[in-house]
This record gives sequence, structure tokens and C-alpha cells, in this order.
Amino acid sequence: MNILLIGSGGREHAIARKLSESSSVDELYSYPGNPGIWQYAPKADIKLEYPLVIDFCKSKKIDLVVVGPEQPLAEGITDILNEAGIKVFGPSKKAASIESSKGFAKEFMFRHNIPTAKYKIFDNENIKDAEKYLNGCNYPVVIKADGLAAGKGVIIANELHEAIDTLRSMFGGIFSDAGKKVVIEEFLKGEESSILAICDGKDFITLPSSQDHKRALDGDKGKNTGGMGAYSPAPIVNENILKKVEDKILKPAIEGMQSEGFPFIGCLYAGLMIDNGEPSVVEFNARFGDPETQAVLSLFEGDLAKLLYSAAIGKIDKSAMKETSGKFACCVILASEGYPDSYEKGYAITGIDEAEKSGAIVYHSGTKTSTGKILSDGGRVLGVTGISNSLKGAIDNAYNAVGKINFANKFYRKDIGNKALKIT
Ligand code: AMP
Ligand code: GLY
Repeated sequence: MNILLIGSGGREHAIARKLSESSSVDELYSYPGNPGIWQYAPKADIKLEYPLVIDFCKSKKIDLVVVGPEQPLAEGITDILNEAGIKVFGPSKKAASIESSKGFAKEFMFRHNIPTAKYKIFDNENIKDAEKYLNGCNYPVVIKADGLAAGKGVIIANELHEAIDTLRSMFGGIFSDAGKKVVIEEFLKGEESSILAICDGKDFITLPSSQDHKRALDGDKGKNTGGMGAYSPAPIVNENILKKVEDKILKPAIEGMQSEGFPFIGCLYAGLMIDNGEPSVVEFNARFGDPETQAVLSLFEGDLAKLLYSAAIGKIDKSAMKETSGKFACCVILASEGYPDSYEKGYAITGIDEAEKSGAIVYHSGTKTSTGKILSDGGRVLGVTGISNSLKGAIDNAYNAVGKINFANKFYRKDIGNKALKIT
């Protein structure tokens, strides 16, 4: 089959690499891609304008479009391509609301009895009611911009005055329209992990569990980022917990979306908090996680293209995924110092080949090429991924490879995976 992959980050590099290994794939294209992705999937000569995408798909006989990021899903790329008869792995605009509106997601979870933090939704016309509500909350409290805010729209306020300031800045437009409505929710304690489920609208299969590291600095300090590293599988998600996640979270979510008339086809990401053996949902995303995917797909055995295509046509072929062979993966993000705020980019990167020779996989997140060199071109630059028979081995392999890569402003967390070593 022929596939077009939409996206340009480390997640899409990991997807492209796995798709390229699939014997079911004839031609693989990317848009816009990045230098890592283009090793497997040449850049399609298009823009995300629909007559152009549709014409490209028809002229190249594209059997499947795989959509990586949330933005085009929230804008309805799937609906537009489906209408033109093109199959897509990625949810419809309505089903993607599970990520693009946190208020929608909370109300959906409430209707379907899916465990999640208690919440209340306010819009900017009700600021007085919201402030009154914050007055009566236990602290810390969590305030979330309703819409997409590139992973930055969640603030944990430790005190009332902080919560009021946050509320006012969100209503004041710090996240533009995404913050005109907010969800205020109870703070959950516990250990976080992510489960990615490949869904065909009615049924699903889970990929190995993982854990992201969302804060910028060691020891989970500093600001929330898109994710500074991940490992897989996450020992906190034992068989018992996975069963609860499937029965109490994923099954009701998939069935609920189907029964409400917007079946979910794509990767449903359940961001979980696990406390005393009970999982609850921190967030749903409508796509593969980044950087979880870099760790999870490094362990994937089977035919990813077949799996995604079968899900896209509503008949998931679970045999396309094989049981993983007891290996672990650890992805350490090399970022530009200053991320998630301002940072400089455009610095030459050296040592990628040496890192890969040591056995690591180096996924490109924010890079570009110029006069034959690879340059840093984003906040998150590379995802250096080690694999081993043990989690400790995977972490060591990742950091050994990290030491071989250099660029000005290179910044990374030194403790990816450490929390899990205490559990194993
Ligand atoms: P989200 O974008 O909803 O995943 O939130 C980003 C991060 O904020 C999560 O990964 C958690 O670390 C934290 N967070 C979000 N909601 C809660 C909550 N109700 N309780 C505790 N932490 C939370
Ligand atoms: N790593 C978090 C996310 O993809 O949303």
C-alpha cells in the first residue's frame, strides 16, 4: 500500500521508521516531515490545502493517510479526506474533540462514568462565578484552558491568589481563544502513565504502556513541556491496572463515542494518574503521544501499516501486532536551552551517526538541513532512544548515546526513567 504521513516531529519520525519496515508498504511519503523522516518518506510536494492534498493522494494512489499531530485533526482533515474517498488513520473533527476541548472530554467522561478528577467548567463571561468557586476549592487546584495550547494550557495552582491570577490571564487571552473557557479540577495525586490504544471505532488494541516526563527540569521541577523523555513499558502499569484501564476507561470511551455517533478511529491516548492501584484519566489525546511514541514504537513488533490500515477501515487486525519480546526503551529528549520558553536555534548538530552506531535510535524532532549539515530547529531537537533487555540498560544506552551528540544550547534531563527503577 501507499501511505502519506502528516507531521514533522519525533513522533512522526518513529511512525515513519516503523511503517518503512512494514512489508505491506510500497511507497511512503511525508508532509512536511523533517530530515529524519525524509530518510524513509520523501516530502510530498503539497501544502495542507485540501484540493492539493486530495490531488496528491489521487495521483500517488495513496491508500492511507496517517495523521500525527492534533491540530489538523481538530481542524477536520479526516472528514475532508474521507469525503473525497481517502482512508485516514486519525479521528474525525468531532471525535478529536476528546482532545481539542477539555470541557467536552470531561462532560463525555462524566456521561460514561469514566474515572477522572471532579471538575467544573466556566467561560469568560462567568469570571465572578469562577472566582467564587476557586474560593471554596481545596489546594492545589488544576486550571486548564479548554482548547489546544501545545501542552502549556494546564496550571497547577498551590494557592488561591495564584489560581485567581491564572484564571484572569487565561480569560484575558494568554492562550487566545483556547483559554476563553476553562476547566477547574481537583488535583489528583499518584503516578502518571500513558496508554496508547489503536482503535477502529468499535474495538481497540493497546500498545505497551509508557511514562512521559512533562516537566522541564530534573526531579519533575520547572515548567510543563511537550515532554522531556519517556520510557516503555511502565512497570506501574501491571496486568491488573491494564485490565482496569481497558474495562473502566478505554472500553466505555470507545463504546461511548460510537453510541453518541462519533466513533473514534485512530490512536486514543489515555493520560492516566494511578493512585492506590486505581487509574483515572488526566487527559485524553486524539493521537500518538510525543515522546511516548518514540519509546513505544521502538519496541513495536509486527506490521504497523497493516494495523493502522485495518483500524482505518473499521476492522482492526490485532494479529498485525506481536507480543513484545520483554525489551525496554528509554527516549531522552535533547532540547534547546530555554525551552519551553524562548530559545535559540540553528546550531550545527554533530555525533548522530556515532550515537546510532552505539545501538541507539536518534529521532529528529526539531531539525533542518542546511548545506549538508543538520541544524537544531526547535525547542525539542532530538529523541535519543536506547533499547535493552532491562530498563536500566535502556536508560544507560540512551544516555551513553546522548553523550556522543553535541550542539550549542543542548539541554536535557538527566533522570529520565529513574522513577521506574524504584518500582522494578
Ligand atoms: P494535561 O495536558 O491535561 O495532560 O495536563 C498536563 C499535566 O498536568 C499532566 O500530565 C499532569 O502532570 C498535570 N495534571 C493535569 N491534570 C491534573 C490533575 N487533575 N491532577 C494532578 N495533575 C494534573
Ligand atoms: N507527551 C504528551 C503528549 O503527547 O501530549
